[in-house]
Amino acid sequence: MYRMHCETSRHYDVLLTPRVLDPDHGALAEAIGSRRALVVTDPTVDRLYGSPLITYLAQLPSVVTVHVADLSEHSKTMASVIDVCAAAQRHGLGRRDLLVAFGGGICCDVVSVAASLIRRGIPYICVPTTLVAQVDAGIALKGGVNFRGTKNYLGCFAPPHRVLLDPTLLRTVPAPELSSGLAEILKIALVLDARLFDRLRQVGSELLHSGFTSPPGAGEEVIEQSVRLMLDELSANCYEDAVLERLVDFGHTFSGRLEELSHYQLRHGEAVALDMALTCTLGVELGLLAERELMEVIGLLRELGLPTQSRLCTPDVLFEAMHSTTAHRDGALNLVVPTTIGKATFVRDPLDIPGEVVDRALARFATVTAHGLISTTGHGVPA
Ligand SMILES: NC(=O)c1ccc[n+]([C@@H]2O[C@H](COP(=O)([O-])OP(=O)(O)OC[C@H]3O[C@@H](n4cnc5c(N)ncnc54)[C@H](O)[C@@H]3O)[C@@H](O)[C@H]2O)c1
Repeated sequence: MYRMHCETSRHYDVLLTPRVLDPDHGALAEAIGSRRALVVTDPTVDRLYGSPLITYLAQLPSVVTVHVADLSEHSKTMASVIDVCAAAQRHGLGRRDLLVAFGGGICCDVVSVAASLIRRGIPYICVPTTLVAQVDAGIALKGGVNFRGTKNYLGCFAPPHRVLLDPTLLRTVPAPELSSGLAEILKIALVLDARLFDRLRQVGSELLHSGFTSPPGAGEEVIEQSVRLMLDELSANCYEDAVLERLVDFGHTFSGRLEELSHYQLRHGEAVALDMALTCTLGVELGLLAERELMEVIGLLRELGLPTQSRLCTPDVLFEAMHSTTAHRDGALNLVVPTTIGKATFVRDPLDIPGEVVDRALARFATVTAHGLISTTGHGVPA
């Protein structure tokens, strides 16, 4: 009878802007403009940056309030979203007003979902304060919260209006959290950019131990390249409806299940690291990746302080994860497997990874990663 055309075309800028809370720095002020805004953060970020944040916001022409929310992987649920919505309502946010996520990936995820719901969608901006959020969670269009034991079961596609990346905020991020972010950078490097992989080998460990301050300029360089590659990949398929084959899904087939099973003791990036190590090992068993390159990957994961072994990696867990991934990807597994450093292919059919390949891969995994237990237990994860 009638065909509605509902397409929308949107874009947003992701800007590298060091010292975003410097009172003379205009990027955040300009992004907020004259709108009423609610800045959402978590208690740790508030303790570290609450004071300069409030000083900065006080000079703006608009009314801006800071809301400190209890945010963790356990509380990343609709309850946190409702808490943010309630704060926005108390603060009188209207349709043209703004939410600001000033925190890690969890803060960005929760704010994104809240912004998509308030008055059917209000603008939000992200100032990601962890490395995971700066190279992944805070720059993408997706928001998600956990629901009844399933990671990111509820969520939305809600592009931010702007993203401000300030690498100087990483100075205070604890090393295990930086390692987690380095896993996401390594993910991109492994499937898209051998030079970035080499750069991580050169500077990754120093960046990790210096809070991304040393070698000078390297932190910005690595973040910029990683973000550029990530956004290039996402932009062709923003709403994940064009194709279900996405190179950026590398490391994200087994990781969600591993996070759930560890009761979120395993950080997101740590689970991605284990997934990458597992997938590369499967790649060797499938004849897609050379063993020498698998060892390079395992070596770099360790240098970056990431786990390469966990007792959660069992055949049952792998099959369970492949099964739910296949259901999520319309019947195709689309497992992203590196074929060399910087290039990857898709294993589309789950039947291409039979039980004996998984068993052999797990046996190899146990051997090649035998010395990786230190990082896993070191991070408090069941090894
Ligand atoms: N939406 C997406 O596309 C996407 C992509 C990747 C990851 N994620 C999600 O992101 C979450 C992980 O993000 P995360 O690793 O940033 O976790 P997080 O938000 O819990 O932050 C990790 C820890 O760092 C602290 N912190 C934050 N900024 C800090 C700073 N500058 N200095 C010191 N401490 C600081 C936080 O308080 C927290 O304790 C997961 O829930 C994951 O599912 C989402």
